[in-house]
Amino acid sequence: MATRLQETVPITITPIHPVIGAEIGGVDLSKDLSAETIDAIRRAWHDHTVLLFRGQNISGEDQLRFADQFGVVAERHIPKAGATANNSPDWTHLMPISDKADADGNPIGALGHGELWFHSDKCYHERPHRTSFLYGIEIPAEGGHTKFASLYAAHDNIPDDLRRRLNGARVMQGYDYASNARLSLDIDLDNIFHYIQPIFVTNPGSGRKSLYVSRLNTMWIEGMDRSESETILAQLFDITEDPASVYEHAWRPGDLVMWDNLATLHARTDWPDGQTRMLRRCTTLGEPLE
Ligand code: SIN
Repeated sequence: MATRLQETVPITITPIHPVIGAEIGGVDLSKDLSAETIDAIRRAWHDHTVLLFRGQNISGEDQLRFADQFGVVAERHIPKAGATANNSPDWTHLMPISDKADADGNPIGALGHGELWFHSDKCYHERPHRTSFLYGIEIPAEGGHTKFASLYAAHDNIPDDLRRRLNGARVMQGYDYASNARLSLDIDLDNIFHYIQPIFVTNPGSGRKSLYVSRLNTMWIEGMDRSESETILAQLFDITEDPASVYEHAWRPGDLVMWDNLATLHARTDWPDGQTRMLRRCTTLGEPLE
């Protein structure tokens, strides 16, 4: 369906945290945006890694049209047959993120209810999803915030001798669709998505380096004794979650947040039982990291 082109107006870029994130003003995502506006948003995204657009009234098609300006919109990976849960509903490009159920009690969205640990979308595939676009529709009265952590700050905060030691290292990333906790290191890898990725990633947009590990997905450092890998990863997870480099977003309906999965982790806080939450997500496909 044809959409109206928004007249090109200078966007405003207002940092929302000292380390990560900016709010973008002057943009109506229900309209087509000019090439100049998209370029300005892309530059802001490279600079701030998480962008917030408040007060948007957009359809799924609007969301996909906007995402399409930043890469190929990704399709769903159906959980592997051996995964411990795969009962999320059918969708291809737009993913309802919700704990709501239909009249038969079946989930209408993915990721269910409650806290989620820090992670990076699809880091356990050869082509991780580069950008995620999450739109707030129904927000609980308390909690259900999304936290964003800067992986640039994490990289810079590793003690120098450890950073030198880890140069060139690779990590096993994995995900069990049924687990909201750290993966068992003895899990049968054939039953879950998993992929070996570099521990440090240079961002193609900014040229900055990230520490590409997360508590939910990173299983071990390749080629390292298991107990030493556990000790180092515990230290690295704490560095990625340093409260000084985390922005916690309290959602309002109509918020659209986009973020760079190569430069950030995200996590979710809990909300009370009996309150429901509904957001809508799409992502773009990234390039292989090596
Ligand atoms: C996600 O991990 O993509 C969803 C985050 C959220 O529900 O806040």
